[in-house]
Amino acid sequence: MTALDAGEVCGDHEAPMTTPETMIYLDNAATSWPKPAEVLAAVDAALRAGGSPGRGAHTMALAASKLVTASRQRIASFLGVSDPRNLFFQPGCTQAANLVLAGALKPGDTVFVSAVEHNSVTRPLSRLAKRGVVIHTIPVDDWGMVHVDALEAMIGKTPVTAIVCQQASNVTGVLQPVSDIADLAHEHGARMIVDGAQAAGHIPVNLETLGADAWFCSGHKALLGPQGIGLLYLAPDYDVRELVVGGTGGGGPDELGEERERPSCYEAGTAPVPLIAGLSAGVAVLQARGDAMRAHEAELALRLHTGLLGIPSVQVLGPPPGVPRVPIVAFSSALVRGDRVAAELGSRWNIAVRAGLHCAPSAHTAVGTQDEGAVRFGLAASNTCEEVDIALEAVATVIAEARS
Ligand code: ALA
Repeated sequence: MTALDAGEVCGDHEAPMTTPETMIYLDNAATSWPKPAEVLAAVDAALRAGGSPGRGAHTMALAASKLVTASRQRIASFLGVSDPRNLFFQPGCTQAANLVLAGALKPGDTVFVSAVEHNSVTRPLSRLAKRGVVIHTIPVDDWGMVHVDALEAMIGKTPVTAIVCQQASNVTGVLQPVSDIADLAHEHGARMIVDGAQAAGHIPVNLETLGADAWFCSGHKALLGPQGIGLLYLAPDYDVRELVVGGTGGGGPDELGEERERPSCYEAGTAPVPLIAGLSAGVAVLQARGDAMRAHEAELALRLHTGLLGIPSVQVLGPPPGVPRVPIVAFSSALVRGDRVAAELGSRWNIAVRAGLHCAPSAHTAVGTQDEGAVRFGLAASNTCEEVDIALEAVATVIAEARS
């Protein structure tokens, strides 16, 4: 474990005793909190209702099946997926990323991947590289952004199997030009694989116009659902090999062939109905109030960003104010390590942030913060301007103390 990894937990301070009621929670990019009342109610109701979907024909099992189907339809509609059978419930974003990358790529394939990906993508690719998949890293600018022209020049005449890029960075908050990258991928006969973890819920997403052949995200971040559930979309003509088989219905006692039917072929095992219900409720909240929530998030991010820029010795990562981003604002300072700042904010102001390398060391290397890491604020619509102002005051105090 590196010093930065250790610092991501609590630096060399004791973890502060906090109560959720008084905490200023600014770590929504890791997981959103608090969950809307609708999400809590949906999880509770599904647990009470019981039933194993797709298994059995009694009332309870059928009601559970209906709930899963309705949830899939709602979420597919929210994400612009016309046929819900192409949207799969997964145990999380990392599992979905592993499924796509390991299921789609074989020795000799060539992949271009952005330099700012999360470990959920870089680690499976690194494993595949050891098995003969050729990986090229796409450089990014100071904001952590991929430039399509540079990528095109880099590809040249190289045969390409897939291009892999996030929609938004969990380190700099930058939005990537994914749709243009997808056009480039398709011009080269390649597949476009997209990590939507930090975008889903924060920006409107239409997967069919985006041009993604595969797209995955977490359910517990800006989609407001519980932990333990993620989503995977696969274009109708993009089949990847399943990582997990068995546990699904279909076939008789002698039927040992693999399930090929969507969506069940990528959902082996009993569906996590309460988690699906909670995720669907989170999406329903976004369908009802998403525009206002996004406007508030943008206001908070701008307030925080401009406030941080006014503090001497603070460098904010990513694009300047005014350029669209997800509500992630991270900074570093030559005066004090990020893990020290985060520990001070936690112990003295009860402010929750995440410091360190954010499970994305290559992204930090790409933007030059690999040694000191950064302090990341992950904002959400549940935050207030007052909370942002307290956070700014706290950062200013910690930096001023480090200077003196
Ligand atoms: N990927 C999550 C983060 O960036 C956990 O914090």
